[in-house]
Amino acid sequence: MFPKNAWYVACTPDEIDAGPLGRKICGESIAFYRGDEKRVAALEDFCPHRGAPLSLGRVCEGKLVCGYHGLSMGCDGKTVSMPGQRVRGFPAIRTFPVEERYGFVWVWPGDAALADKALIPHQEWFDNDAWAFGGGLFHIACDYRLMIDNLMDLTHETYVHSNSIGQKEIDEVPCKTQVDGNQVVTSRFMENIEAPPFWKMALRGNGLADDVAVDRWQICRFTPPASVMIEVGVAHAGHGGYNASAEHKVYSVVVDFMTPETDTSIHYFWGMARKFKPEDQALTDSIREGQGKIFSEDLQMLELQQRNLLDHPERALLMLNIDAGGVQSRKILDRMMAAEHALVATSGDAA
Ligand code: FES
Ligand SMILES: [Fe+2]
Repeated sequence: MFPKNAWYVACTPDEIDAGPLGRKICGESIAFYRGDEKRVAALEDFCPHRGAPLSLGRVCEGKLVCGYHGLSMGCDGKTVSMPGQRVRGFPAIRTFPVEERYGFVWVWPGDAALADKALIPHQEWFDNDAWAFGGGLFHIACDYRLMIDNLMDLTHETYVHSNSIGQKEIDEVPCKTQVDGNQVVTSRFMENIEAPPFWKMALRGNGLADDVAVDRWQICRFTPPASVMIEVGVAHAGHGGYNASAEHKVYSVVVDFMTPETDTSIHYFWGMARKFKPEDQALTDSIREGQGKIFSEDLQMLELQQRNLLDHPERALLMLNIDAGGVQSRKILDRMMAAEHALVATSGDAA
């Protein structure tokens, strides 16, 4: 259950540089590729001839050529040609609104008439000399909302990530959840604590001592349909914490897009944008490696949680105060989905 009239991250640009990519987004099988003038294009992954996946084909002079019998498709979903055949009567296939922006390829899997590129959320860190970004992609067999729950409730760090970013103070310091329009913000500020191993590494990477007390912050922001940005960092204690000046802290944003593939699987695009030592590629690499290990620790938990939920749909789950971020985020998604269904019902009536 996901809204379809929304922009989702579909892939990273490098994934379509060598040829077409077949990927299911919100239940829609889509072929992504670079068409005319290398512009990104997205077609239903279904050849109108015999239904072969077009993503197994190749791109030739901006056209997507089916890998089965050579039918050639234009970016507008119309058949252009096929060796030795007349193709004028072939029905057009579906195209999807798509846009390359902020280091990702975005797709709108719902009603194309409603797709407005201005709604693609701006990413401050992209193409900005003050920032560096490193990230990756995991496929996870879970409902995207389980990942939203996970990221909006970081108390799990104490248990799932005990060797890297977890520490007992996360449990001890209460978090606060606020809803601001269509955004949910859950924040936690810890003062005068020891930095956990990941943050000690980041402090060293920024030329700061790692053996002194720090103030630590986590500010998680959910924006529908499927993004959570988390401001994270530590500052040497006594310099203002989150508001400390740059020379006393390490400050980053954890970037998370969990694009539904199906009701129970996601393409999880994760990364970290950092606002210190942006020119240091070795630091980018070690942060990406550390973060990749951390997120892989969530993977098994989420997949087996999903399996439990599927095995026991009758079980009611508990809602504690730490779950507020996920609960509020789901309310926003429920509203979006209800509005979408109402729209479909109305247009059905009109027809
Ligand atoms: S199935 Fe694509 S050309 Fe035949
Ligand atoms: Fe986690």
